[in-house]
Amino acid sequence: MTSPITFTQEGRIGLILIDNPPVNAISGPFITGLAKALDRFEAADDLDAVVLYCAGRTFVAGADIASFEDPSGFSAKPFNTVLARLEAQSRPVIAALHGTVLGGGLELAMACHHRVARPDTRLGLPEVKLGIIPGSLGTQRLPRLVGAELALDLVTTGRKIGLQQALQAGLVDKVAEGEPRDIGLAAAEALLATDAPVRRASELDVSPAPADVLAKAEAEAAKKPGWPQLAAAVRCVRAAQELPFAEGEAVEATEFARLLPSPSSKALRHLFFAEREAAKIPGLPRDTKLRPIRKVGIIGAGTMGGGIAMNFANIGIPTVIVEVSDAALQCGLGLVRKNYEASAAKGRLTAQQVGARMNLLQGALDYGALADCDLVIEAVFENLALKQEICAKLGAITKPGAIIATNTSTLDVDALAQATGRPADVVGMHFFSPANVMRLLEVVRGTATAPDVLATVMKLATAIGKVPVVSGVCYGFIGNRMAEVYMREAEFLIMEGAEPTDVDAAVESLGFAMGPCRMLDMAGVDVGAKTVIEHGRAGGLPDDPSYRALVQKLFAMGRHGQKTGAGYYRYEGRAPSSDPQVKAIAEQLADRHGIVRRQSIGREEITERLLYPLINEGLKILEEGIAYRPGDIDLIWVAGYGFPDFLGGPMWMADNIGLDVIAQRLAHYAGQRGDAYGYWRPAALLGQLCGGMRLAHWKG
Ligand code: COA
Ligand code: NAD
Repeated sequence: MTSPITFTQEGRIGLILIDNPPVNAISGPFITGLAKALDRFEAADDLDAVVLYCAGRTFVAGADIASFEDPSGFSAKPFNTVLARLEAQSRPVIAALHGTVLGGGLELAMACHHRVARPDTRLGLPEVKLGIIPGSLGTQRLPRLVGAELALDLVTTGRKIGLQQALQAGLVDKVAEGEPRDIGLAAAEALLATDAPVRRASELDVSPAPADVLAKAEAEAAKKPGWPQLAAAVRCVRAAQELPFAEGEAVEATEFARLLPSPSSKALRHLFFAEREAAKIPGLPRDTKLRPIRKVGIIGAGTMGGGIAMNFANIGIPTVIVEVSDAALQCGLGLVRKNYEASAAKGRLTAQQVGARMNLLQGALDYGALADCDLVIEAVFENLALKQEICAKLGAITKPGAIIATNTSTLDVDALAQATGRPADVVGMHFFSPANVMRLLEVVRGTATAPDVLATVMKLATAIGKVPVVSGVCYGFIGNRMAEVYMREAEFLIMEGAEPTDVDAAVESLGFAMGPCRMLDMAGVDVGAKTVIEHGRAGGLPDDPSYRALVQKLFAMGRHGQKTGAGYYRYEGRAPSSDPQVKAIAEQLADRHGIVRRQSIGREEITERLLYPLINEGLKILEEGIAYRPGDIDLIWVAGYGFPDFLGGPMWMADNIGLDVIAQRLAHYAGQRGDAYGYWRPAALLGQLCGGMRLAHWKG
């Protein structure tokens, strides 16, 4: 096997080339190769300096994350030893940077004596996003180069900074245009001409962070027990400013070794790869020719339409929004402007950018305005007949090759596709509310959806900053279908005697952003109830009079959630408080439907009854081929439903609980509650995987 590292020389300057596609990640052969290159440099008396640079799209973007899973154990030590050797050189070591200099890549750059970078370079230590902290002295060298305050910010947020900030902060010494090899050589020549002594980051003094900044970071970290890496990161930066380098190194090593095998880090690493896997569609070649998307049309400027339009304006795509009335159009566009202005007030956009984005949005009352769009997304009321009528119009009016998408949450995408008369052009684009903020996009693949339509929408989704996940066609697709069983159990638990606060607290204590009752109050009890009523009428829901009786009752009483001041809770502004009236309603419903009430229901039962049926539904979705892989389901729940990322998503969690345990508990609840409607029927896949198999190894 050829080494990813080669050593050559140009005149009196040594050149270490790193070529390890796709992102020059650090691996075993990388470290061995770097050590050998250093052997060559150390042995070459005729060289005055050495330049490290990378081939391909980026400088080193970090350690190979897959190598963390090495069953024989991952150790940062071999890399750290090479970094120490690199820094100890008496002749200048120059890093020539381009692309994304991340994690171990930045740690490598910081062990060099001088850093020159191309203007497109971005730098960061994103390890906290993977549940760890930098393990190769990033937490010790960065504070010495840029001061503890900025280091604390970068290490705890994992955010990247651009070149200008890096230059100002002293992380990068020089900016230059050109090929990495050329800018490295030029920087080396310039440095040698000054005859300046080598500058080692480990030997610099730390400019300390103010005490209140460190204390605030500690307090913030303490609020996030699911992310122990934050507190660890703060401890490391504190060590950097209070202790000698070698002692700080020991602190970092201890924290890193503790975090790497932690369940939360494994979960976050799983999500990193799940996100990249989700972009790959089985059977669809990577080089599928995409349809160009230069102009987008949206139908409906309501809650969803306006937010969806913002996504395209944000990346400079002209977008036309069609409404039924001028009043509705102005209202929708007004909300979009208000949203942009709120971002401007927070300093995230300039007034000029707000103007430019608004200029890209054009309103219209006539479908003719959609004739030259490459993609039209309908976001009108959730009503099959209305959507079919609109789809028929779109099929006739849009140009050949234009993609027709629907933002439906629950309706049959195949039926809508048929209505257009050109089903191959149709796909579901299920955005989540608020559509300009939520990262998830469920891309619904209809029976007839053309491969290039799917590929185009996946690519476009990434371009607008979404996490796209493909779903097949079924009621509610992946996310809402699973949410349906979750809500079902939430309601049964309340009718059986739990309070909405008990139900919400059970999952919120696990780290959920919001429990099911607060979630529905925010999304709208009316929206939830109408879906149940519509779907029940269509015959898709169980023929059980007690099924989701609570949401229908709240809806009938005008308790539509936060927006009406009452739903599962009573609201003062946005703050929920428990409402005795809901208990009275639950008692009446229990009485009417013969549901036995209990004084109280324990947290363990609540958690199991909310999550195990949801996991079971996920297994059914997998066995039916609606989702391609367990990781896709996890992404949907983390990116779209506030499932804690440090638990990895429901399917990852299922593996950690054990599929056998889940099967036993489903059987237990079937026995306890009776199962006339099949609520507790285990997925066939659960039966197949019981006996120690992990879903993570399931290949479909
Ligand atoms: N280790 C292993 N593989 C990595 C990797 C890493 N540190 N960084 C990226 N990759 C892989 C991806 O899995 C993907 O592989 P695939 O094509 O087989 O799916 C490929 O490199 C390209 O990555 P992708 O994210 O699709 O490309 P991008 O151009 O959008 O983004 C990065 C590139 C480097 C910005 C992004 O991948 C990233 O942020 N990587 C993680 C960096 C990190 O956390 N480093 C610290 C590690 S401790
Ligand atoms: P909404 O009621 O806020 O907006 C719908 C808009 O469509 C209204 O402004 C209405 O005037 C307009 N409209 C109706 N008929 C039209 C027509 N013939 N031509 C042009 N415009 C027309 O609804 P919403 O919440 O934005 O939902 C829209 C779609 O998005 C639905 O399919 C819904 O299921 C889906 N969805 C909603 C959410 C959510 O949380 N609100 C989340 C995901 C998906």
